[in-house]
Amino acid sequence: MFPDRYAMIQKEMTVMEWKANWICPAEDMKDICPVFLKSWSIKKEIKHAELRLTALGIYEANLNGQRVSKYVLAPGWTTYDKRLQVQRYDITNLIRKDKENILTITVGKGWFRSPMPGWVESLDKNRRKEQPCGIIAELRMTDTEGSTEIIVTDKDWQYGESAVRFSEIYDGEIFDARFETKRWNPAAILNWPKDILIEQEGEEIREQERVSPKSIFITPAGETIVDFGQEVTGYVELSLCANAGEIIRFQHGEMLNRSGNFYRDNYRNAKAEVIYICRDGVQTWHPSLTFFGFRYLKLLDFPGTARTEQFTAIAVYSDIRQTGHIRSADAGLNRLISNIFWSQRDNFLDVPTDCPQRDERLGWTGDAQVFVKAASYNFDVEHFFTKWLHDLAADQRPDGGVSQVIPDYMPETEPSAAWGDAAVICPWQMYLTYGNKKILEAQFDSMKKWVDYITEVTHDKNLWTGGNHFGDWLGLDAPPGSYKGSSREDFIATAFYAHSTELLVKAGRVLGKPLPGYKELYCNILKAFRERYPEYYTQTEYVLAIYFKLTEHLQEAADALARMIEIDGIQMRTGFVGTPYLLYVLSDYGYDALAYKLLLRKEPPSWLYSVSMGATTIWEHWDGIMENGDFWSEDMNSFNHYAYGSVIDWIYEKAAGIQTIENYPGFAKVRIMPHPNRRIPWLETSLETRHGLVNSKWSCQEDIIRYEITVQMPAQIVIDGQTHEVGPGSYLFWSHQKKPEAF
Ligand code: BGC
Repeated sequence: MFPDRYAMIQKEMTVMEWKANWICPAEDMKDICPVFLKSWSIKKEIKHAELRLTALGIYEANLNGQRVSKYVLAPGWTTYDKRLQVQRYDITNLIRKDKENILTITVGKGWFRSPMPGWVESLDKNRRKEQPCGIIAELRMTDTEGSTEIIVTDKDWQYGESAVRFSEIYDGEIFDARFETKRWNPAAILNWPKDILIEQEGEEIREQERVSPKSIFITPAGETIVDFGQEVTGYVELSLCANAGEIIRFQHGEMLNRSGNFYRDNYRNAKAEVIYICRDGVQTWHPSLTFFGFRYLKLLDFPGTARTEQFTAIAVYSDIRQTGHIRSADAGLNRLISNIFWSQRDNFLDVPTDCPQRDERLGWTGDAQVFVKAASYNFDVEHFFTKWLHDLAADQRPDGGVSQVIPDYMPETEPSAAWGDAAVICPWQMYLTYGNKKILEAQFDSMKKWVDYITEVTHDKNLWTGGNHFGDWLGLDAPPGSYKGSSREDFIATAFYAHSTELLVKAGRVLGKPLPGYKELYCNILKAFRERYPEYYTQTEYVLAIYFKLTEHLQEAADALARMIEIDGIQMRTGFVGTPYLLYVLSDYGYDALAYKLLLRKEPPSWLYSVSMGATTIWEHWDGIMENGDFWSEDMNSFNHYAYGSVIDWIYEKAAGIQTIENYPGFAKVRIMPHPNRRIPWLETSLETRHGLVNSKWSCQEDIIRYEITVQMPAQIVIDGQTHEVGPGSYLFWSHQKKPEAF
């Protein structure tokens, strides 16, 4: 359906040939961002001009005063030591004939040199902080007579100080609008590898949405606050008339505290601050070499009285296209859905991050794994994940271990179950959602290496015992003072060992590359699991045993889980690992009503609790703000973490009933088996797939349910246990629920 775009993904990435040299400033510029300069003039009419460019750091390139592209925060974030994306810009229209052309490239520390992560000291982090800043560029101009002139980065380029006096991922930016670069020096040649340079693989990062403030107000503590009414990731554009030297200084925050004052302790070591020194007159500016996650600004310095029209929040994220839409008769549910979409936008800035605000903003593998299915229904993320998975494979350790974060900025830490399994689960989900075998092909070796890693490091054959794991991270059944739920770590590790092995076997089958011995390995893990774990003690243990089909007694286990949830007061106790599968397990074994009760519950812990507390994105903790108004903690408490938003894939697949059929990946044929519930009068869900659109709507009136289903591909519609094999078209069904209490 989208030929050009997807042909690009399939294109083999070739190592690029370069005539250019890496160049860098000839001195240590400390925190000041350098700007590189090249000027030239051209006498002939240019037919086509292309700039190939990348940098060690985030760059902004301007030709004759205009940005060369809408791509911001280029070159994005990859495993820089092995893979650095190069951008190609068509600059034909920006070139001036018979006049001087001036190209400037300003470079900030970006992900390349910022001290990330914020809370740990490590040798690797120190190494990265010391890396040089540099650029490499080639500019090709072909004139109307067909001859080509090439300008490449070399010693004849110049550099100087830019107006960006400081820029860094966590701490923010300082910009002096009065500053003009007066001293230009010849750039130095930098000895840096070129075989790491690859074509742009991911989506471009773009400015996507503009959000105006809802209000500006003074807090009880006397602070001036700008409230955008929505948490976004990006930066704030300022527009004002000022005198040279006047200072604007503000900090970003997600929440107000219980007294209504600005709060940002949860940003931990990230200063998230902007300082702008004005020039004379009317001016518009925003940071361009960093980003923040925020809803509020606290104005520390501002000339005169701030007015809402002087501020615009610009949401910046990868150029992913929305493919899923869900609307319902329930306002709370609609807000939850909006929050999930926002958390995805806010955390899909080139890599899938845990959160966009505190001193992390890292590609946590567990979070990505938990949310990958939801992500792939909400937006078209094939391109996005293709690139990230290539980084995962590039960063995979020699023993097959997969880091906790990709790009691997924590190489000194141990892989964890359910986090490292992203290596297998993410490519498999891409294949199911988009039906493209290429991603499986590309990742197959990495998938196998991950399973082999477990087989090597375990203390007990056919189980995964030992090691350091995150367990059921943030599970509510955690013992006091711990972040890890009570589910046994070895239990979770072995369950994922089985799951990943099963998916690896399936991938081998799809690719026509069956792996000898892995089917047996899967059977052995299953057997060992059953022997070692005859009983389950937590909701998450039940959920995994049922969802991964590890128990022989599926229905019995589901009955016991349902009883456990009832005894727990119709509350979930699950964390990152159990939550994504919880509602599936309930609705697959006859407990739809319970699944809906959990989905629509408003008291904590629940999805709608945060909604009732005014959330505009998904919280890291079920009770990030507790009922008494206190924060869950000062430390690990993000209000923009998409993990629990994974519930949205249950809405697509179970509530609306839109499912991929494994033998028809990419929705070449779709199964539609809705699970309506009259707690919600109506629900409408649509999904744009590689094979066309699917729309599923149901509405409940008294004991009649009406279904309207439209498909653009062959479908299997299952209503009341009856299967209808249909072709593309629109279909209407009614069903009469005889036992309303079960529904
Ligand atoms: C992150 C998580 C992540 C976790 C692993 C946290 O600090 O924010 O989302 O998965 O660490 O323990």
